[in-house]
Amino acid sequence: MAEPLRIALIGAGVMGRQHHQYLQNLPEARLCAVADPGPQAAAFAAECGVPYFAEHRRMLDEARPQAVIVANPNTLHVGTALDCIAAGVPVLLEKPVGVHLDEVRELVAASTGSGVPVLVGHHRRHNPLIVRARELVQQGSLGRLTTVTALWQLQKPDSYFDIPWRREPGAGMLLTNLIHDLDLLRHLCGEVVEVQAFTSNGARGFANEDSAAVLLRFANGALGTLTGSDAVAAPWSWELDSGENPVYPRQADQPCYLLAGTLGALSIPQLRRWQYAEPGAGWHQPLLHSQESNTPGEALSRQLQHFVRVARGEAAPLVSAADAGNTLALLEAIQRAAASGRACVPELLSLQ
Ligand SMILES: NC(=O)c1ccc[n+]([C@@H]2O[C@H](COP(=O)([O-])OP(=O)(O)OC[C@H]3O[C@@H](n4cnc5c(N)ncnc54)[C@H](O)[C@@H]3O)[C@@H](O)[C@H]2O)c1
Repeated sequence: MAEPLRIALIGAGVMGRQHHQYLQNLPEARLCAVADPGPQAAAFAAECGVPYFAEHRRMLDEARPQAVIVANPNTLHVGTALDCIAAGVPVLLEKPVGVHLDEVRELVAASTGSGVPVLVGHHRRHNPLIVRARELVQQGSLGRLTTVTALWQLQKPDSYFDIPWRREPGAGMLLTNLIHDLDLLRHLCGEVVEVQAFTSNGARGFANEDSAAVLLRFANGALGTLTGSDAVAAPWSWELDSGENPVYPRQADQPCYLLAGTLGALSIPQLRRWQYAEPGAGWHQPLLHSQESNTPGEALSRQLQHFVRVARGEAAPLVSAADAGNTLALLEAIQRAAASGRACVPELLSLQ
């Protein structure tokens, strides 16, 4: 077997440490350095037994990692990833890929021009539940996909917002959380070509929104809604429903995405399917349902395994910077729609 890939961590906060936990169980890679100017980072590096750096450029020069995980605050993502690309080091970049589409264009150009791959951390795409749901949609099990209902409604504890950057521009529920749902909707249902939206900060009173209601028109003609709030005592969200991460007590019977087509319907994460015995039989006939197996997979661990293959040049990123850029383009269209009260069109990047 090849030597374990030497991976450095830039940003050793909540998410960075979660990546490290999965990295510890991955024989094909190992942590080789930590870069983070925060007060607890040196002690964390010491616990892990790897060199500590306050500044990531020095780390790139001196530790010479073969790959890097970037899990620092959102506004630093693109600048940090550009430094890694300049050093020739493949990057697993946490989501959102950036906070403005303009900076993401620069990142896409740098990654494409240099051939240094960037994998963006929309880890839910790696979850076997989502892999199966996508297969079902793509093989036409639902017929013509017609309506899409997505829910992200839960309550973050107030203490979550004690960390200043989480209350400031560049964070917010849309960029921090709904971006995951928007990415999955694109992955499952195809590109979105038009949106309308309302947002509100009425529940928490921060500058950033805490709630949103979004209308989506997909390129394939399907229509969708996404309602989100981080301030409600409600059970409908990927976090609470999927069982992907045990830190969220699971509401296993509650769905967060409902996809409906002319031949059938699918609830996610249950992977429960509905259809008539005879296609088109309609509402006086029993609507039959069946259940696919839906064991939650370890999406973050699968994402890391994929990243090792990407960094070794054995696979193309499942979520490239351009692909994640299109999720950001969708999000920016939602922000423009909410601010203007008008329908808006995402400024999609080329995926070539
Ligand atoms: N994929 C997911 O499901 C998921 C979940 C949570 C967070 N995230 C993403 O992970 C990132 C970090 O979020 P978090 O909740 O861990 O935040 P956090 O505040 O817990 O951690 C951020 C860390 O970055 C460090 N940092 C600040 N400036 C830095 C710099 N210049 N260089 C290196 N490190 C620096 C901080 O000291 C801190 O340790 C965010 O982009 C967030 O969107 C992703």
